Amino acid sequence: MRETSLSPDNFIYPLFVTFGKGVKKEISSMPGCYQESVDAVTKHAKEVFSLGIPSVILFGIPEHKDESGSGAYDEHGVVQKAIRAIKNKVPELVVITDVCMCEYTSHGHCGIIKNGDVQNDPTLELLAKEAVSHAKAGADMVAPSDMMDGRVDAIRTALDEEGFAEVPIMSYAAKYASAFYGPFRDAAESTPQFGDRRSYQMDPANRREALKEVALDIEEGADIVMVKPALAYLDVISDVKASFDVPVAAYNVSGEYSLVKAAGKLGWIDEQRVMMEILTSIKRAGADLILTYFAKEASKILNK
Ligand code: PBG
Repeated sequence: MRETSLSPDNFIYPLFVTFGKGVKKEISSMPGCYQESVDAVTKHAKEVFSLGIPSVILFGIPEHKDESGSGAYDEHGVVQKAIRAIKNKVPELVVITDVCMCEYTSHGHCGIIKNGDVQNDPTLELLAKEAVSHAKAGADMVAPSDMMDGRVDAIRTALDEEGFAEVPIMSYAAKYASAFYGPFRDAAESTPQFGDRRSYQMDPANRREALKEVALDIEEGADIVMVKPALAYLDVISDVKASFDVPVAAYNVSGEYSLVKAAGKLGWIDEQRVMMEILTSIKRAGADLILTYFAKEASKILNK
């Protein structure tokens, strides 16, 4: 009579790609997660696939960052190299790429800066360029996480023009300006050098606005819509599921992972049970797909 079931099939596992060779550096605030060079991340991708997880999402940590985040759309960038290597070694694994500027800009913001502010429209061009360069390298799907207005349309148009009409878009549609991203910014070295992301990410107090954001992204061509973070936003996941007929993804973000890991390490909670309960709640709320750093551990339990 159980109403909700989890499967490794539901998971998307995030991977952090860095420059160099033979690099596998644990992220201190995210035990069990690593910054890895292309060779290491390719091996890791193979392990992920062997656990029955169908898909990974790639984030890049480039060697050099600059004002315009040029590493984001460099044909020889870390993510572009990783896509080619993974598709070569594990062709059945679905490779999704995070499309954003913050990992590549020296100021750590998700767009181009002018007079201390993020410029929406000039950023769209760069995001489209980044998405096309990922598709050219062989990405199966692109996932814009920047929250600029109009970026799904800009990316869809650019992909279609370049002959990638079949590459779908999973948009971070309802993405909140959340403190739960803290550990990720360690992982991706993308903490904004000034200000915060509140001019482009959503106010945690807003529920109905999420439906507006999602509707806009679907209108612009999003194939899958995402709510992020997941745990403090289960109501939003449920609303989105009830209101739209597209697959819904939820991002169980870094801070949600680190909380459980820290309390588990201290012996304050039963880490495994809490992990499974959280993932089940996200699925129960309406997520078809869950991006989670727990994907491997949870799959090991589910596969037993
Ligand atoms: C990039 C991006 C972020 C995350 C995913 N893509 C960070 C942010 O917006 O600051 C967060 C993921 C996580 O916390 O696990 N914009």
